[in-house]
Amino acid sequence: MKAPSLEEDTVSAVSRKLIPGPILLLGAPGVGKGTQAQELAKVWKIPQISTGDILRGNVARGTEVGKLAKEIMGRGELVPDDLVNRMVAARLAEPDTSEGYILDGFPRTLGQAEWLDKHLAEENSPLPVVAVSIRVGYTQLLRRITGRRTCLACQHIYNVYTQPPKSAMVCDVDGTPLVQRADDTERVFEERMRTYESQTTPVIEHYHSLGRFAEVDGEQAVDRVAAGILAAAERLRS
Ligand code: AP5
Ligand code: MG
Repeated sequence: MKAPSLEEDTVSAVSRKLIPGPILLLGAPGVGKGTQAQELAKVWKIPQISTGDILRGNVARGTEVGKLAKEIMGRGELVPDDLVNRMVAARLAEPDTSEGYILDGFPRTLGQAEWLDKHLAEENSPLPVVAVSIRVGYTQLLRRITGRRTCLACQHIYNVYTQPPKSAMVCDVDGTPLVQRADDTERVFEERMRTYESQTTPVIEHYHSLGRFAEVDGEQAVDRVAAGILAAAERLRS
């Protein structure tokens, strides 16, 4: 079964034709970066690049990167910049990124943002970055984090309260049993929020000061948030 897509009337003809280039989705843990990245990837036919998903893949495979990242992620802290930057550089070198890509959860330190700016300049990236920050209040975030369940086969994201699967705890797309992320506890969420406030808020200020930046209200239904991001991208790319 195919995953449901955004309603036709949510996606304007301009949005579909837009050459998206590099799109950054920023925001606190649980605002919906992954959910939105998956929706937009279908509209624009470009890849979602989630540093969290890549790191979790390494943890699951027991690689050296995964062994280092597991403890750090379990504490709600950030994996060192040089490691994440190298991971992103390798992913951006793949051919499916030529029309654009959605970076979900990167950059999240000023060091990562400065590295990305320099990397794109060196690669002569034809389009500048467009950054969209999604905003959701604390109480709603906690509910989203504790209610989240994920399909490990296709990475589709559900929520027992707000986005439940059609049948009990299996993925609508491929029938795989859904799992809860190891860092989706209230204790680790609180630490991730502290990390976000201290290290990622300056990244938002960085892109704000560069211009090509928008903020979207993430407390609406998924398709309304997506429509907000599409409209912002159209405006910032025009
Ligand atoms: P990462 O995986 O990126 O986690 P995060 O930033 O904490 O964000 P989340 O994935 O928790 O939330 P989301 O915004 O994607 O929300 P989602 O769409 O799932 O990073 C994990 C860890 O990896 C970090 O703590 C760090 O250790 C490490 N790491 C990753 N990147 C790194 C980097 N660049 N540098 C260093 N370390 C890094 O939605 C959440 C829930 O809400 C879901 O259940 C969903 O169904 C529901 N939902 C979504 N939208 C809506 C809506 N509109 N209405 C109702 N429910 C909704
Ligand atoms: Mg995510």
